[in-house]
Amino acid sequence: MILLLNGSLRKSKSNSNHFLNLLKTQLKDSYESVQLYQRKDLNVMKDLLQKADACVIGMPVYVDGVPAQVMEFMEQMYLRYQGQFAQLPVYVITNLGFYESEQGNVLLEIVKNWCSKMGFFYGGGLAIGAGEMLGTLKKVPLDQGPNNN
Ligand SMILES: Cc1cc2nc3c(=O)[nH]c(=O)nc-3n(C[C@H](O)[C@H](O)[C@H](O)COP(=O)(O)O)c2cc1C
Repeated sequence: MILLLNGSLRKSKSNSNHFLNLLKTQLKDSYESVQLYQRKDLNVMKDLLQKADACVIGMPVYVDGVPAQVMEFMEQMYLRYQGQFAQLPVYVITNLGFYESEQGNVLLEIVKNWCSKMGFFYGGGLAIGAGEMLGTLKKVPLDQGPNNN
């Protein structure tokens, strides 16, 4: 099972959720979606992470870094369950308002460091610039216009 965590406060209407939905269309394995801020019980999150074969976290860039609500989740998971996940592969998809995707680099680095502290395997990350614009292009096919590679 692939665990998809959406860390945006905008819930299912967020750009993060849009990009995770695009990933879902490519997934052959089963997946489970969790809106991170709605799932307060960290024990449930721990169980889900222990059950998962891989985890993908979607979140926006806030002030060049990880949004506070996701940072709190990361800190709490670290304080309670560090080292209990047997090298679970963790990936991150972040999106940001600016066009230059390298502005997501600090966030990717933070997630990478968190993975190392947690005992996860950091599988890598994707930073998507112009997230607000791309989030409005849901009807444009993936290989066309601004949705092209
Ligand atoms: C509090 C706050 C801080 C933000 N900081 C940045 C930033 O530092 N750089 C950037 O490019 N975009 C920034 N943004 C824009 C968001 O990353 C962008 O709107 C993103 O598409 C939101 O994704 P979501 O719909 O998944 O929440 C910020 C937005 C908010 C609300």
